[in-house]
Amino acid sequence: MLKVENTCLGAGFRIKWGFILLIALFLQGCLDKEQKVKYKIGFSQCTTADAWRKAMDEEMKREISFNPEIQLITRDAENSSQKQNEQIKELLDEDIDLLIVSPNQAKPITPIIEKVYKEGIPVIVIDRKTSSSFYTAYVGADNYEIGKIAGKYVGEMLKGAGKIIEIRGLEGSSPAIERSRGFSESLKEFPNVEIVQKVYGQWEIDTVKQIFPKVIEGIKEADLIFAHNDIMGFGAYEVCKNLGLEENFYFVGIDGLSGPNAGLQFVSDGILDATFLYPTGGKKAIDLALDILNNQPVPKENILQTTIIDQNNIKVMKQQTDKIISQQKDIEKQEEMYRNQLEMYKNQKVLMYILLISFSISLIFGGYILYSLKEKQEINNVLQSKNREILQQRNQIEIIAQKAEEATQAKFKFFTNISHEFRTPLTLILASVEELQDLTKTYSKQLKKDFDLIQSNASRLLRLVNQLMDFRKIEHNKMKVLASPNNLVQFIKDIMAEFEIIASKKKIDFRLIKNVSHLEVWIDIGMFDKILFNLLSNAFKFTPKGGFINIGIESKVLENKVVLSIEDNGRGMSPNHVEHAFDRFYQGENYETFGTGLGLSLSRELIKLHHGEISVQSEKGKGSRFEITFPLGKNHFTSAELREENINKLDPSEFKYFLDSTNLVSLKENSSTPSKSNPSTLLIIEDNHELRELLAQKLGECYNIEEAANGKIGLDKAFDKVPDLIICDIMLPELNGLSITETLKNDLRTSHIPIMLLTAKTSDEQQIEGIQSGADAYITKPFKFRYLFEKIKSLLKNRQQLKERFSHELPIHKLPRSENKIDKKFLNDFIVKIEENIGDPSVGVNEIAQELGLSRVQLYRKVKALLGVGVNEYIKTIRLKKAKQLIQENDLTIAEIAHKVGFSTPAYFSTAFKAKYDVSPTEYSKQH
Ligand code: FRU
Repeated sequence: MLKVENTCLGAGFRIKWGFILLIALFLQGCLDKEQKVKYKIGFSQCTTADAWRKAMDEEMKREISFNPEIQLITRDAENSSQKQNEQIKELLDEDIDLLIVSPNQAKPITPIIEKVYKEGIPVIVIDRKTSSSFYTAYVGADNYEIGKIAGKYVGEMLKGAGKIIEIRGLEGSSPAIERSRGFSESLKEFPNVEIVQKVYGQWEIDTVKQIFPKVIEGIKEADLIFAHNDIMGFGAYEVCKNLGLEENFYFVGIDGLSGPNAGLQFVSDGILDATFLYPTGGKKAIDLALDILNNQPVPKENILQTTIIDQNNIKVMKQQTDKIISQQKDIEKQEEMYRNQLEMYKNQKVLMYILLISFSISLIFGGYILYSLKEKQEINNVLQSKNREILQQRNQIEIIAQKAEEATQAKFKFFTNISHEFRTPLTLILASVEELQDLTKTYSKQLKKDFDLIQSNASRLLRLVNQLMDFRKIEHNKMKVLASPNNLVQFIKDIMAEFEIIASKKKIDFRLIKNVSHLEVWIDIGMFDKILFNLLSNAFKFTPKGGFINIGIESKVLENKVVLSIEDNGRGMSPNHVEHAFDRFYQGENYETFGTGLGLSLSRELIKLHHGEISVQSEKGKGSRFEITFPLGKNHFTSAELREENINKLDPSEFKYFLDSTNLVSLKENSSTPSKSNPSTLLIIEDNHELRELLAQKLGECYNIEEAANGKIGLDKAFDKVPDLIICDIMLPELNGLSITETLKNDLRTSHIPIMLLTAKTSDEQQIEGIQSGADAYITKPFKFRYLFEKIKSLLKNRQQLKERFSHELPIHKLPRSENKIDKKFLNDFIVKIEENIGDPSVGVNEIAQELGLSRVQLYRKVKALLGVGVNEYIKTIRLKKAKQLIQENDLTIAEIAHKVGFSTPAYFSTAFKAKYDVSPTEYSKQH
């Protein structure tokens, strides 16, 4: 699906960019079209230094501006014919379509103009002429004619007699030649009019101003100064004026140009007496050029009209020209406006194009977006249906996974339950075997061997079951470290002691090599016990007779760690075994070598919990070396993982299942077995028939036994018999062990009885629950009878010590300390009752029992259990102690005291007193 979308997007981008390119080209095309030049006109101007030339240029430009497709390229030759030649060549190089030229001088320019003309480029000659007729058209006034009119005019002005100074234009330029010729020609009609001096002013005011003072100096008499143009005439006037001679001469010029500092103004100001109009022809030249370029036929000679301007018509002329000037200005303004409009129009056109393009792009993109949306919608639909499918599949997988999880859990539960179930029969097997071993000591060696075999295999089975259960705990993160400070050296020594017998039997050199004599480490003693028993069991299993097993303790304080090693020279492992030594359930090449592989794997997990690691080096046939490294100190544990008190001494129940074989001694053979003369009564509440019987049988050797097969019967029997100790399973039909404990501990009649809970469950929580219910001890199955027996003994002994303490702690007001609140209260009430009735000999067991809400037997048992004496005996003891006190304190007679402490006769009092304190009350009174 994604691939499809990418392709669509790729195509989209291509279309988009292609389109934008097209639009850009189109726009470019439009703008190009706007600016495209259709014709280029080259204009070679001889000079642009004077107003007349400027007026010509202006006219041309104005005219050309109406034709934007035509470009006018102007070159200024600056009065140099050579430069004009070069410039014309340059214009040719620029591919001009037509040449307008106003030659500086005729001759020097003629060849290049002929060349241009012959190349087929139309040539318009303006104002000044060439020497040939190779040009397309000529524009200008007839200079010869102007010269003639001027001659005639001045002749008449001078009334047929006078002297003239002629200031000529540039030599070699056609107007200078023609004007001069026409002038002289005309003067022929006035024989008394003479040109006395010809001055070469080169059309320029500056030249005239420079040379004219000398000219004036030389000529003493002249009447009129005729200049070929107005500006030279003005120059002469200025010179004369400076000399104060301006009134001496008439001044006549040519051009009649309008505007300031030009002919018309000079006439109007009285500087010039007359001028002759010489139009620039700029407009005409452009009109002709356009016609020529548009292939229109044009006349070759385009002669412009001239006229005389003097004081007679200057006003009208000036008005007209001023009007023309103002109109021209208007035109220029309009032209400017037109240009602005045009510019605006161009901009608007571009804007319109842009808008059009944007609109088109929007349309296309809109279409494209709609198309994409549609396509996206389709893709989405497909994706959604795929999602639904995936969701369904996921749900199915979840259901399957859940079922699988349930099945696994069920399996594990079954597995755990089975393991639990295994423990009790295994305990029974082991116990029976112990018994049989005892009984058959004298029997044949073979029988003993068989029993040993049964025992070692049952132990092994038990060990495996326990290991499996540990794994289960590790898997469920329920295996928690509880590290406490221990002397590692002593700990190892204790464990080594367990293996001494087998070491000596197998003649194995079994040593501890250490670099410290005492090393405090923080370890979970139960876990380390398992680890070491496992490693040592393996070492002993695989080390042949006469071999060695070394345990090493190396403290590396600088590295803050300790290395514990177990090295043997036993069977060793192949490299493949070594690689998998710590893999769970790895069995090696044959079962013999490694067993189920559980032990090492479990050890590794337990070491990991200590933030340590285990490694092995081994060589087949040479032996193995296991190395455990773990940190010193306790910083690597969380506070919940620490148990501050030292428990260096192992509780045997913690390592019970690692021991392969232990020779249990018959209880009877033990020197500390309690005497059977006054046996205590034990109540065994256990639903497992075999275990109950076995316990009854074994413990029956030393105690009176009461049995109960379920919780309810157990509870009844407890109340009925008030035994000295109760052994009670937790998991019981009818009523569980915890409830039984709670009930008994909260009942005055039974609260003093020590209760020992017995169960297969080993979790900490259950132990805590058991203790919370008030149980005095908690023993997990499987257990060793020796341990159970010792525990019973110690509980009974504690009870006995308590009793002794209680009875010794009398006199009366000093109440004995009791663990149980109910017992404490009972003792308190009991003693108060005795004290209250101390003087009443009739108050005995029955009365007090009644007042305390107990039966006579219950009171008797309770008092016996707590204080170790009978009720009557206790009352008697209190009475005698009170009497003793009274003898010391008062002056009462013996008879009075006997009466006060509740003895019916003084004689009985004396006998009892003497029996208790080995002295008669009278003697005692005398002594004190
Ligand atoms: C300007 C000018 C005019 C004259 C013309 C002759 O440069 O000198 O005054 O009439 O040229 O070519």
